[in-house]
Amino acid sequence: MKIKNTLSNNICVGIDIGTTKICCVVGEVDLDNIEILGIGVSNSNGVKKGSVIDIDKTINSIEDAVNKAEKMSGKKISEATVGISGDHISSMSAQGAIAISKGQPISDEEEISKLEVEQVLNQARSVSLPSDRQILHLIPQEFVIDQQHGIKNPIGMVGRRLEANFHLISCDTSASKNIKKCVEEAGIKPLRIVYQSLGSAASVLEKHEKDLGVVLIDIGGGTTDICIFFEGEVRHSAVIGLGGNNISNDIAAITQISKYEAELIKRNYGSAKANMVSDELNIELKSKGDEKYRKESERQISNYIEARMTEIFNMVNNEIQKANIKSPYPLKIVLTGGGSLLKNSSILAQEIFNSKVKIGIPKGLNKLDEIKSSPIYSTGIGLINYPELVFDDSKINRKIVPNGISKGVTNIIEWFKEFF
Ligand SMILES: Nc1ncnc2c1ncn2[C@@H]1O[C@H](COP(=O)(O)OP(=O)(O)OP(=O)(O)O)[C@@H](O)[C@H]1O
Ligand SMILES: [Mg+2]
Repeated sequence: MKIKNTLSNNICVGIDIGTTKICCVVGEVDLDNIEILGIGVSNSNGVKKGSVIDIDKTINSIEDAVNKAEKMSGKKISEATVGISGDHISSMSAQGAIAISKGQPISDEEEISKLEVEQVLNQARSVSLPSDRQILHLIPQEFVIDQQHGIKNPIGMVGRRLEANFHLISCDTSASKNIKKCVEEAGIKPLRIVYQSLGSAASVLEKHEKDLGVVLIDIGGGTTDICIFFEGEVRHSAVIGLGGNNISNDIAAITQISKYEAELIKRNYGSAKANMVSDELNIELKSKGDEKYRKESERQISNYIEARMTEIFNMVNNEIQKANIKSPYPLKIVLTGGGSLLKNSSILAQEIFNSKVKIGIPKGLNKLDEIKSSPIYSTGIGLINYPELVFDDSKINRKIVPNGISKGVTNIIEWFKEFF
């Protein structure tokens, strides 16, 4: 089951609000195939490290990206799934537990229905967070019935006690409100706000990778977003406030050139492994006011790059330790986002994580869409392909009715089929 919006049954829209670009994707989504109808990209001028710092500039950039996507797709965009990132995003585990009893006398064993599942969910949702934070996603990992662990779908099973473990992703309330406000002011109704890395996961990860264990590392301009899956479930997520822009800034600061030039040099000559590139003085640098060009080697520039990339990967390694996953094998590493385009990034990752590494590009695209299979579109394309999780708190205006059953729960069986 895919997100539907008002355009037509299978047409979905995702808006990725990144630090360097805002990307609006319109696609037609079928079971195993995505046809991208339009992608609009604009420079992101009002976002820093994943968070909105200038509302007006962000609105303008969203409008620009949406207009371009409308023109390319020939569709009028009115609603979208919107991505959120920033180092205010954090994750924790949450639990819920209830006794199963339906009336008097209480029988020994009772059948579990969607009502009990929703009650367990509501209990987990009532976890106390600081007043300035809100739940972004509450994703079930497993259900436990009378101490029997690992149950994926408890509906229809019998037991006396139902417990559930969830992965809870929270965010700063004002950061989420600002994103929502910008999208609304740009004339688009935000259907849900989704942690960007979950969007990327939907577009680049295979099911078997999530089952065996995988660390998705989305290296953007301002942040590196991490999502760790094991046994098919999200186990840990985190955002590191460093990305590809820090590398360009390092080059600019150390060599005293403009950020623009540093960005070009990084893309054209930079390598995440310094010893794999030439040490000849073949790059010409000129600072403002310099009379003549100075010369620098690819290797020297790449030394700066390797140092920063190593720092980022070491921080990711700390997050992997926090996930505390008991796997006999090293978790596979999938790099995506613009930062993964850096030359030899997968070789450096292989050395640091001592694991198999792949560059994640959006999968399932129609053949004609191959040109769009760049890791910079992973989040935007994933947002149109993000599964409809009935229990997922990413939906805006999620209503809890007084008896504790939320709207949308009617789809619970389909949700289980899709999610597990
Ligand atoms: N060919 C390339 N080589 C090296 N780096 C690249 C290349 N192309 C893009 N990048 C880097 O990728 C980064 C932008 O990636 P991306 O478009 O995924 O970021 P974003 O989504 O805008 O930002 P974020 O996710 O951090 O909010 C920039 O730092 C840019 O320098
Ligand atoms: Mg991004």
